[in-house]
Amino acid sequence: MKVLVTGGAGYIGSHAVLRLHEDGHDVVVLDNLFRGHREALDAIDPAIPLVQCDLGDTDTIAAALKEHGVEAVMNFAALAYVGESVEQPLIYYRNNTAGVISLLEAMRNAGVRKLVHSSTCATYGEPATMPITEDTPQAPINPYGASKLFVERVFADEAAADKDFAYAALRYFNVAGSDPQGRIGEDHEPETHLIPVLLNTALGKRDSATIFGTDYDTPDGTCVRDYIHVCDLIDAHVTVMNALDPRKPDRKEMIFNLGTGHGFSVKQIIDAVKKVTGVDFTVKTGDRRPGDPPSLYADPRKIKDALGWEASVKDPETMAQHAWAWFQKHPDGYGG
Ligand SMILES: NC(=O)c1ccc[n+]([C@@H]2O[C@H](COP(=O)([O-])OP(=O)(O)OC[C@H]3O[C@@H](n4cnc5c(N)ncnc54)[C@H](O)[C@@H]3O)[C@@H](O)[C@H]2O)c1
Repeated sequence: MKVLVTGGAGYIGSHAVLRLHEDGHDVVVLDNLFRGHREALDAIDPAIPLVQCDLGDTDTIAAALKEHGVEAVMNFAALAYVGESVEQPLIYYRNNTAGVISLLEAMRNAGVRKLVHSSTCATYGEPATMPITEDTPQAPINPYGASKLFVERVFADEAAADKDFAYAALRYFNVAGSDPQGRIGEDHEPETHLIPVLLNTALGKRDSATIFGTDYDTPDGTCVRDYIHVCDLIDAHVTVMNALDPRKPDRKEMIFNLGTGHGFSVKQIIDAVKKVTGVDFTVKTGDRRPGDPPSLYADPRKIKDALGWEASVKDPETMAQHAWAWFQKHPDGYGG
């Protein structure tokens, strides 16, 4: 299949590019490189075409879709820092909401009618009960989550308006790990995700790591989250992309949580990273951060029941191990 991967130079998108390329699909990447890395694409195959443009550039996207004969789009392009979204909401709505509408217009103009989209568990906000199912009410508590929720509604309306349009909105929990062969990895600036922050601390790039809140109502008092290996996450995207079918009611609109269904506490993740790296780095405790719910984990049964898919990696040690392999080779990230 010919697939356009938007945000393909970023962490998750580059893992999609790698997988699709290895599976023999023709991949075209679209990325404005605002937060992505050309080096990630070069590490996969420098011959992969990169359309360097913004999601908002409808005409350039439509032309690229036509030129490359694209049949399906995987959209990973987004801004994804919760704190930044609170400080600068408009750039989140322009990028993650208006940008996706522009992408949909380009797809309509070019006759490309299949889309697999990165959504997020942030669209659920702070649910009262766990685990989170796809029917849990969506009530985001920050502009990032809201910017992603709005486009889910847009997809539903576009699907209702066009019998040929099929889409999947995949609501990720905490994505972690990297290519087990260490060809590409996770490199965000700034880094806010727990496992890479701990790996940077193990590398000595940070003096210490901080646990934000140790008095939550959880087994060890620290926040519990659901971690999914990035390669499992991409495997789910490929499964979903192959299943999309606008003629079948249960394949035209597919909305799934992507998690393992298991929650791990911050302390458990720290223990896993210390074990994998063999470094007993300094860990400090700090106050709770506003908007951090005690526990968030998925009910992953819907995608299993619908498509027989489930995550293969369920332990954070394996995720940390794979991420660590890349971090050791690239202590200064892609630029290093
Ligand atoms: N990392 C996680 O744990 C997680 C969890 C839930 C959802 N998500 C979602 O997954 C997707 C990918 O996340 P990531 O961690 O790989 O982020 P990332 O920042 O590493 O990658 C995003 C990529 O999109 C590009 N991009 C952003 N806005 C663009 C625009 N307007 N036009 C063109 N390119 C643009 C960036 O340059 C970057 O290469 C995002 O949509 C994010 O919201 C991630």
